Amino acid sequence: MIGIFDSGIGGMTVARAVEQLLPDHPLIYFGDIARTPYGPKSPETIVNYSIRNTEFLLEKGATLIIIACNSASSVATTALRERFQVPIIEVISPAVEKAVRISKSGRIGIIGTKATVKSKVYQQKIQKKAPDFEVFSTACPLLVPLVEEGWLNKRETKMIIRRYLHPLKDKQIDTLVLACTHYPLLTELIQARIGKRVQLIDSSIETAHYTKTYLEKHPDLVSPEPGASHTYYTSDSTETARKVANYIFNRPMELIVA
Ligand code: DGL
Repeated sequence: MIGIFDSGIGGMTVARAVEQLLPDHPLIYFGDIARTPYGPKSPETIVNYSIRNTEFLLEKGATLIIIACNSASSVATTALRERFQVPIIEVISPAVEKAVRISKSGRIGIIGTKATVKSKVYQQKIQKKAPDFEVFSTACPLLVPLVEEGWLNKRETKMIIRRYLHPLKDKQIDTLVLACTHYPLLTELIQARIGKRVQLIDSSIETAHYTKTYLEKHPDLVSPEPGASHTYYTSDSTETARKVANYIFNRPMELIVA
């Protein structure tokens, strides 16, 4: 079974992309909405939460874990790989792969949480593959709470996006990585603000493609079956979380509190 976790509902953009590419693979999701957001927290705390989330998914039968959170992928991947035997997929490498492949100018923007930007992991991974590339990163800490609150198209959200993208506007980037799995829910607003000539990279889609390829190479890990269960757990139950989840999947979602 594929196990996916995030600090909240943002990782559902990854789960949605995985469902679309691998509809017959059983999947279990855990969104830690009781503790969201992770981005402003210390690496130690994010590692502890990530260990707990992974243990939960393994107890439920996961045989492969996707860290559907850039903040946790940035600071907790090594700790999880050291501690657990199952394959751990993170969301950063697939996005980096795509960014380096498509950028023509070699000028890439990164927007993410404080934890992700502070870790400099995108910059390191991009420059390892393409040493001449320039990377411009901006932390956008207010965007995760806005998405968790369902403020996906409010005037205030547009104003905040405008403010956050301002420093990137004159950097002549041709590629912008949405380095947080909540941000695909703001794609239109971000694209409108940064301009049409900048290509956006959605780490959720890239990660789903990476997972599909990985499972093709390791078919024994998760067995597909028609009508496979896709179960969604959260650490708290709120009306807003349900609404945003319904919006993401475009169907009524059952969120089980764990
Ligand atoms: N979706 C998470 C990410 O990709 C949000 C992290 C947070 O809770 O701050 O970074």
